[in-house]
Amino acid sequence: YLYIALALLAAYLLGSIPTALWVGRRFFNLADIREHGSGNAGATNTFRVLGPKAGSSVLFVDALKGFVVAFFLPQWLVAQGAIAPEHELYYRLACGALAVVGHIYPVFAQFRGGKGVATILGMMLGVAPATVGVCILVFIVMLLIFRYVSLASMTAGVCFALLQLLPQFRPAQPFLIYVGFVLAALLIYTHRANIGRLRSGTESRVPLPWAK
Ligand code: G3P
Repeated sequence: YLYIALALLAAYLLGSIPTALWVGRRFFNLADIREHGSGNAGATNTFRVLGPKAGSSVLFVDALKGFVVAFFLPQWLVAQGAIAPEHELYYRLACGALAVVGHIYPVFAQFRGGKGVATILGMMLGVAPATVGVCILVFIVMLLIFRYVSLASMTAGVCFALLQLLPQFRPAQPFLIYVGFVLAALLIYTHRANIGRLRSGTESRVPLPWAK
């Protein structure tokens, strides 16, 4: 059980790395990105406040956190003989979930982190790549039409849950369907302030690149 406890702790700590906050501090002399833009320590707000290079780096690292944690930690547990290979999937989800919790409530940043979109993306990429691929397309289409990242993120999350109900995307392990719905609900929860802004018409839109 020691190895399992270590892996779960590592998952939370790695997820807790506040990429947006640290990129702002280290490369832009910005004390706290959470005092700018939407106030969120995520890739979208980094894009908004610090530009595309910083934003895409944060997106990449935050997704990588989810992927690495959900992929390698359970593999390591199997290699140590701490868990049976047939249980690896459960640990991928458990480790990934802890990375997402760490990202949203980071111990290294007063428990005020991001909304979990990038880290969930990284975590689920290894588990259900085809479904995630379709959701990325949904995200892009929604973003092009409405230009709200928050709306596009929530729609992609809900699509993930719903897609798994279709025979083409049905997961081999049916409990993954529940996981999809829990993740969609989590995304809606972390975007509750965005929902308020969307309803009042004050949510910020992604500017059109050609309308500068
Ligand atoms: O990355 C989270 C995104 O869906 C919304 O971010 O900064 O617009 O609240 P933000």
